[in-house]
Amino acid sequence: MKLTGNTVLITGGATGIGFAMAEAFLKAGNEVIICGRREARLLDARKKHPEFHVRTCDVAKESDCTALAQWTGASFKDLNILVNNAGVQRDINFTKGVDAFLAGESEVRINLEAPIILSGLFVPQLIGKNQPAIVNVSSGLGFVPAARMPVYSATKAGLHAFSMALRHQLSKLGIKVFEVVPPAVDTELNPEGRAKRGNLKADLKPEEFVGAVMKGLEADVVEIGYGMSVDMLKASRAELDKSFQKMNSRW
Ligand SMILES: NC(=O)c1ccc[n+]([C@@H]2O[C@H](COP(=O)([O-])OP(=O)(O)OC[C@H]3O[C@@H](n4cnc5c(N)ncnc54)[C@H](OP(=O)(O)O)[C@@H]3O)[C@@H](O)[C@H]2O)c1
Repeated sequence: MKLTGNTVLITGGATGIGFAMAEAFLKAGNEVIICGRREARLLDARKKHPEFHVRTCDVAKESDCTALAQWTGASFKDLNILVNNAGVQRDINFTKGVDAFLAGESEVRINLEAPIILSGLFVPQLIGKNQPAIVNVSSGLGFVPAARMPVYSATKAGLHAFSMALRHQLSKLGIKVFEVVPPAVDTELNPEGRAKRGNLKADLKPEEFVGAVMKGLEADVVEIGYGMSVDMLKASRAELDKSFQKMNSRW
């Protein structure tokens, strides 16, 4: 992927990994649009970078996704990159039944269905554009699931499978599909779960991770890992099972 002269839409671009990607794309000479649910966080981001275009959007709502696509279609004719980054993560304990799963926000809607819907909605806008691409942000937990976050892990495994299949389909249209596979990064993800675990922070900062992501995108690496997730991408089934036992031994 060329890293300059693009028009990039990043979902969940006001915080964490999405914000670091938005800053990196801006710095490299691209038009950057970010969206998310909290207007205050979008405005904070724009205060720091007045060049950002911002839009409130709940990707869990199909109507918001459609409105977002209509808005970019009308206002950003050169849009050529969609980054499906927005995501949520929840600890859910199924030994206590289904209530917790049903009560909270839907990881299935936000982490899996939204990237699927947005990809479909944006394909017509990407066709014929200069080096068009879709970038899906999955997770190392899609390869080695965390028992305490079963649905999250499943959505990311699903996003991995979807990205592979979409890459194959869209190659016919000249649209590249990348998958970014973060390891643990220090962000605001899963505040309730992190509070239960004493608010331990990951060592890896979003800017460092995104620095590696940008290099991967530039080199056309279709599945971009970093640190632990590089090993997960290359691991055999036996190695993945071993990592699963190790990661979940104390849960
Ligand atoms: N941090 C990690 O360790 C890690 C590891 C692997 C993968 N990831 C993935 O990286 C991506 C970014 O997460 P992050 O770690 O940077 O956490 P984050 O700072 O919490 O970022 C998530 C972003 O998604 C937005 N978002 C959530 N639900 C949304 C919705 N329904 N509609 C629109 N925007 C929504 C949030 O903004 P609003 O709340 O304002 O909507 C927020 O800006 C996620 O897909 C996550 O699963 C993170």
